[in-house]
Amino acid sequence: MEILKTKVAIIGSGPAGLLLGQLLYKAGIDHILIEQRSAEYVAGRIRAGILEQVSVDLLEEAGVDAELKVKGLPHNGIEILTNGEKYRVDLTKLTGGKQVTVYGQTEVTKDLMLARTQAGLSSFYEAHNVQIHDFYTDQPSVTFGYKDQKFIIQCDFIAGCDGYHGICRASVPKDKIKTFEKVYPFGWLGVLADVPPVADELIYVQSERGFALCSMRSNTRSRYYLQVPLTDKVENWSDEQFWEELKNRLDPESREKLVIGPSIEKSIAPLRSFVTEPMRFGQLFLAGDAAHIVPPTGAKGLNLAASDIAFLSKALIEYYQTGSENGLEHYSENCLKRVWKAERFSWWMTHLLHRFETETEFEHKIKQAELSYILGSEAGQTTLAENYVGLPLQKAG
Ligand code: APR
Ligand code: PHB
Repeated sequence: MEILKTKVAIIGSGPAGLLLGQLLYKAGIDHILIEQRSAEYVAGRIRAGILEQVSVDLLEEAGVDAELKVKGLPHNGIEILTNGEKYRVDLTKLTGGKQVTVYGQTEVTKDLMLARTQAGLSSFYEAHNVQIHDFYTDQPSVTFGYKDQKFIIQCDFIAGCDGYHGICRASVPKDKIKTFEKVYPFGWLGVLADVPPVADELIYVQSERGFALCSMRSNTRSRYYLQVPLTDKVENWSDEQFWEELKNRLDPESREKLVIGPSIEKSIAPLRSFVTEPMRFGQLFLAGDAAHIVPPTGAKGLNLAASDIAFLSKALIEYYQTGSENGLEHYSENCLKRVWKAERFSWWMTHLLHRFETETEFEHKIKQAELSYILGSEAGQTTLAENYVGLPLQKAG
């Protein structure tokens, strides 16, 4: 068994783990990253694509925003199509100048991985049998296999950035953790295609046939989604059927403008709301999807991972630079305040825009009235806009 020593062991090379690694590196704090998948697999995953300003600022602070600055598309509004009518929510006007940036999570991941390689930082991809130990003591460790060798990393802290299915949350004793969950009775069928987007801004579609979303990755690459039953299989959806159903959910103008083409990726993702409390267990800190999941309707998943990392990186840097544990002690509380607000927003957007098989006619009417109120009132639109662009990072303690 080879023994390695470091300050922070980061489990998982998604956006959360990579961003934490980069911020620690910039602050001169030694760390090692352990990932079970291959680097190619991690870099190839297709995920969401909307960055809040808080996330853009953090990527800038981490020094990995060169590509983002060139290729990111600033968006000042979104459109909502309901009852055949399109409403524009002017995010920038309603939030005193804020905006969001269209830039794929796949690109964020690639930029962070490149920065890591260029800095020569220590990473173990394709690690197997990753386990964490003794995180309620001041001598936590991580063991894993890499190629034919076994390793133990002795560290001060473990950052559990290993996503929803990871081992970090699962290693916490059951009596020390509480989880909250809601599973939705439908999924999103997503298609990526090299065709120009149907409109300059995203269109969120509420229709009698179910939800749809017109999004994009660039001016030449589009991302579209359809609400589908969980029982649907992706192989049963041909490209033709996908475009046909999307057209059925759009307004005549968008239907006319829609450019279709072969899909370069097609998948079905289930929708889930999930929160873990607390997010710190001794020397183990959970961040990102390891601690919480949101349905994608408000585009909050990646942004929440980034805001966790904003708190965690600052807390660790403060600890190593001054010896203060204040940030570490408040980590869980700081994150969870923001997490629950984003959970509420994502749940609300999902509830409002999707068709639920079980809803009564009365509930359906009430939902239509709520949507009509929100879109017809400046106060209503403002509440949507300020959540969509991202709530500020507020620190307790
Ligand atoms: N050991 C090491 N690595 C692991 C293990 C393990 N036992 N289990 C999982 N991992 C890795 C996964 O392979 C993955 O690369 O942890 C990483 C977790 O990355 P993400 O799932 O991308 O999670 P996170 O970094 O928190 O990013 C959150 O991703 O799914 C989106 O909506 C989500 O946009 C949000 C973002
Ligand atoms: C995406 O482009 O993948 C996307 C955009 C907005 C969302 C969800 C997903 O709300």
